Amino acid sequence: MIKVKKRKILLLPGDGIGPEVIAEVKKIIEWFNKKKSLDFEMEENLIGGASYAKHKKPITDEVFYKALESEAVILGAVGGPQWDNLEFSKRPERALLKLRKELKLFANLRPAICFRQLVDASSLKPEIVSGLDIMIVRELTGGIYFGEPRGIKPIENGERKGINTHTYTSSEIIRVAKVAFELAQKRNKKVTSCDKSNVMEAGILWREEVQKVKDEEYPNIELNHMLADNCAMQLLRDPKQFDVIVTDNLFGDILSDEAAMLTGSLGLLPSASLGAKDKNGKMRSMYEPVHGSAPDIAGAGKANPIATILSFSMALRYSLDLDKEAENLDQAVQKVLDDGLRTKDILSKGKKEVSTSQMGDAIISKLK
Ligand code: IPM
Ligand code: MG
Repeated sequence: MIKVKKRKILLLPGDGIGPEVIAEVKKIIEWFNKKKSLDFEMEENLIGGASYAKHKKPITDEVFYKALESEAVILGAVGGPQWDNLEFSKRPERALLKLRKELKLFANLRPAICFRQLVDASSLKPEIVSGLDIMIVRELTGGIYFGEPRGIKPIENGERKGINTHTYTSSEIIRVAKVAFELAQKRNKKVTSCDKSNVMEAGILWREEVQKVKDEEYPNIELNHMLADNCAMQLLRDPKQFDVIVTDNLFGDILSDEAAMLTGSLGLLPSASLGAKDKNGKMRSMYEPVHGSAPDIAGAGKANPIATILSFSMALRYSLDLDKEAENLDQAVQKVLDDGLRTKDILSKGKKEVSTSQMGDAIISKLK
């Protein structure tokens, strides 16, 4: 078999359950290297609280440059209560936000798919969620997460004022809208754009620019505009009305957690954060589960590694040109669920509870 060129993958396990779920991805990468003669070059580094504990900063320059140079970054999770009182700039989340911003990963893809084996794990009625397949495209490098001015400043009467600024430029909106339309083109050709144009000027601009992109370049796509609060409600009322949802950084954060829960567990949902393609069609990218560091179950072998494993599968597809391998991995996950194996978060009657690493091993045993 011909060996393909080395592909540099940077693993950043981070905090809480991050190391446990990344450990399972590591086993899968090793499997691909050994059984499929792939040449993934893995490196593992600290991020978040784990980095702070050793280096007094949530990400070192060295790790940051490694992320810049790798073909895909796979991140576990960052944060935990022991770092909640740190000075803002040293908090674990700052590392994640720095990577997103400085790698220019403006498009965050968060698919919410309800697996048929897990229809009962959702808190919604089976008929509402069965067959659900939504793609949320969250803008990831703009909006109120990064807008200036920001900060906490003293004002008169001994009061303080907390300030964050919600801003978007046309080009920031247009580039993420295009990602959403391109995805819809390969799916059900329907995009719902969410904003708060009834309250915010940045929302009016959002709506106008998304509409313009559709009119000029994607006449065959059905585009609806929806206020973000209505979207939150519609996701619970009738989630299957959606195909692709495109929205800003903050609304995307909230709506994607909500959509995740429709599928039964946050432990299932992967994500891809993508930058612009260069002239060779390559782009910077980072892949991470939508769930957080879940400190309450960290180290107990209870975490569901599927979200992170499916994030790696997205990396195979979007960054590493290995669609067949991605399909192989996705199928393996399906087969394990068919066999009735469940981590605690998706356990239901009659199913077999397995630990994080047992789930990883079972998935590997189904790889072809
Ligand atoms: C997410 C997380 C992050 C966010 C946190 C950890 C900074 O909630 O990826 O959804 O708010 O973007
Ligand atoms: Mg979030």
